[in-house]
Amino acid sequence: MFSKLSLMRTGAVALCMALAPLSVSAQTLSKQGDPTPVKDEDGKYFDKSGAPTYNIKPDGTVDWATYSGYRRYHAECHVCHGPDGMGSTYAPALIDSLKTMDYDHFQEVVVGGRQNVGGGNEKVMPSFGLNKNVMCYLDDIYVYLRARSDDALGRARPAKREDKTPVITATEKACLGE
Ligand code: HEC
Repeated sequence: MFSKLSLMRTGAVALCMALAPLSVSAQTLSKQGDPTPVKDEDGKYFDKSGAPTYNIKPDGTVDWATYSGYRRYHAECHVCHGPDGMGSTYAPALIDSLKTMDYDHFQEVVVGGRQNVGGGNEKVMPSFGLNKNVMCYLDDIYVYLRARSDDALGRARPAKREDKTPVITATEKACLGE
C-alpha cells in the first residue's frame, strides 16, 4: 500500500520534472539567449546560462571554437545541411534552427539523430553519438552555428583566429583517445 502510494508520488514528481524544462524552453523559444561570454575557460567561452558561446572581436578575430566548428561543420554536416549552415533541399538550415533550439536540444538531436518518415518523405538525421569526429567537436560546431545564426559571423572562412590553447589540445586528444 505504502509502496504503491510512493510509486504514484514518484510518478507525479517525474511528470513535473519532465514538464518543467518544456515550459522553460517555450519561453526562450524565440532565441538562444544572450551570447555575451561571461566566462573564459582556457580559450573556451560560456554565456551566463553556462552554454558554450562565441567570442568575436571587432577586428574579426574569432575564438578557437568558432574556427574549429567552421571546419568540423564543413567536414561532417555540410553534405546535408548545405554550406555555412544555410540548408539544402534535403535538410534544414541550421542557422534558422538555432534561433529556436537551445544547446541541450541541439545536442540531443545530434547525439540521437532523428527520422522524419511519412508523406512521401524519408529524411534521416543520422545519430552521431558514436562518431568521435563529431562528438569531440560538438561544442565547436554549436558555437560556430550560434555565431552564424546570430549574424555575428559571415559566410566566409574566418580569416583570423585565437590560438588553440594547450588545454583545448589536451582535451581533444583525451576525447579522441590519442
Ligand atoms: C545524411 C544527412 C545529414 C547529415 C550528414 C547531418 N544531418 Fe542534421 N539533419 C538531417 C535531416 C534530414 C534533418 C531533418 C530531420 C527531420 O526532419 O526531423 C536534420 C536535422 C538536424 C537538426 C534539427 C534541426 C531542426 O530544425 O529541427 C540538427 C540540430 C542537425 N540536424 C544537426 C546536424 C549536425 C550538427 C550535423 C553534423 C555533425 C548534421 N546534422 C549532419 C540530415 C543530416
